[in-house]
Amino acid sequence: MTAKVISDVDADALAARGLPGLWYVVAKSVQLRAREVLGVRALGRQLALWRGEDGAPRCVEDFCPHRGAPLSRGVVIDGNVACRYHGVMLDGTGTIVRVPAMPDCPLEGRQAIIGYATAEANGAVFVYIPSADRPEPPPLDLPAEFTDPGWSGFLCSGLWNCNYQLAAENTADPMHGIYLHADSFTLAYGGREDLVRIDPADRGFLITRVAQTDQNFDWCHVVTEGSTNFIRLDIPYPMAGGPGGPFRVLGFMTPVDEHSTRIFFWRNRQVSGIAREAWRFLFRGFFEARHWEVLEQDREMLEAVPHTAREREMLYQHDAGVVRLRRIWRERARQILAAPTELTPS
Ligand code: FES
Ligand SMILES: [Fe+2]
Repeated sequence: MTAKVISDVDADALAARGLPGLWYVVAKSVQLRAREVLGVRALGRQLALWRGEDGAPRCVEDFCPHRGAPLSRGVVIDGNVACRYHGVMLDGTGTIVRVPAMPDCPLEGRQAIIGYATAEANGAVFVYIPSADRPEPPPLDLPAEFTDPGWSGFLCSGLWNCNYQLAAENTADPMHGIYLHADSFTLAYGGREDLVRIDPADRGFLITRVAQTDQNFDWCHVVTEGSTNFIRLDIPYPMAGGPGGPFRVLGFMTPVDEHSTRIFFWRNRQVSGIAREAWRFLFRGFFEARHWEVLEQDREMLEAVPHTAREREMLYQHDAGVVRLRRIWRERARQILAAPTELTPS
C-alpha cells in the first residue's frame, strides 16, 4: 500500500478548520442547566448538549435523525433528549431510544447520529472530537492548576471573530504585552526591546523573553502534545494586586468555525485560607473588569487582522513561537489526513 501524499496546502487547511483528535472546552458548566438542551458549535459541527439523569453532560450532533430538526430545540426527558418536532428521543450515544408517535417503530434501538464523549472539570464542559487516527477518546489531560486545591481561579469565556490559530498565536507571543497592553494595570512594566527563546517543556514548548523575567508577560508554556491543547502563562502582579503571587492564566481556544473562536481563559492564583477569600473578593470587585479590558484589546486587534494576512506577513525573531505552533499544527494535520479513513464533520 502506498502512503498518501499530503500537501502543505491540505494540511494547513485542516489545521485552520481545527484539529480533531482532541478534547475541547465547549461551554461553561453553568451554561448547561438541568433539563435544558444547549446548542453549541465547535470545529464546524453543530452539537446538542444536556445533562443525563446522573448530572453528567451528554453530547450528540444537533440533528434529529427523523427529519433534521435541531435537537437543541428539544427537551430533556428521563435523561435523554426529545426532539421538539415529533418527540423522537435519543440518548447520549446518538441511539434512538423511543419514537413516541409510532408504536413499535423499527427506528428504536438504531444508532442514528454521532454521540460525543464528554467530561466536566473546573467549571467547564469538554467534548472529544474524534479524528480518523484517534477515534476513541484518550484520558483528558488536565492542567495541574485544575486539580491542585492550592490554586483558585475564575473562568472567563468569550466569542472572538477570528481564526483560533490567531488567538493561540497571540497568546504564544510574549512581546505583544508591553505594546498592545501598555496602558493596563499589570502589563505596563519592563523593556520594550528583547529577544525570545524556545525550549522544550512538558507536552509542548516554552517561549521566554531573554532579557527579563517576572516583569511582564515574559513566558508562556504552549501545550500541544496532550489530549487537549492549552497555553499557560504568568502575569506578575504589583504589590497592590493583593495575595497570591503572579496571576496564572490558562488559555483554551475552541475553533467554532474557520473565522470564529470561543476562548476559555482561567485566571488563577496560588492562594488558600483567608488569602483565597481576599483574592476572590478582589477579583470580582476590581480585577475582573480590568482583565476584560485587556482581553478586549486582544479581541479587537485580532478581529481586525485580515483573513489573508498570512500571505503577506514578514516575521522576525519574536515570532519563533508562532512559527513553532504552525509547524506543529501542520504536522498533526498531516498525520490525521494520512490515516486510512477520515471522519467528516457533520
Ligand atoms: S424531526 Fe425530530 S422528531 Fe421529527
Ligand atoms: Fe494580549
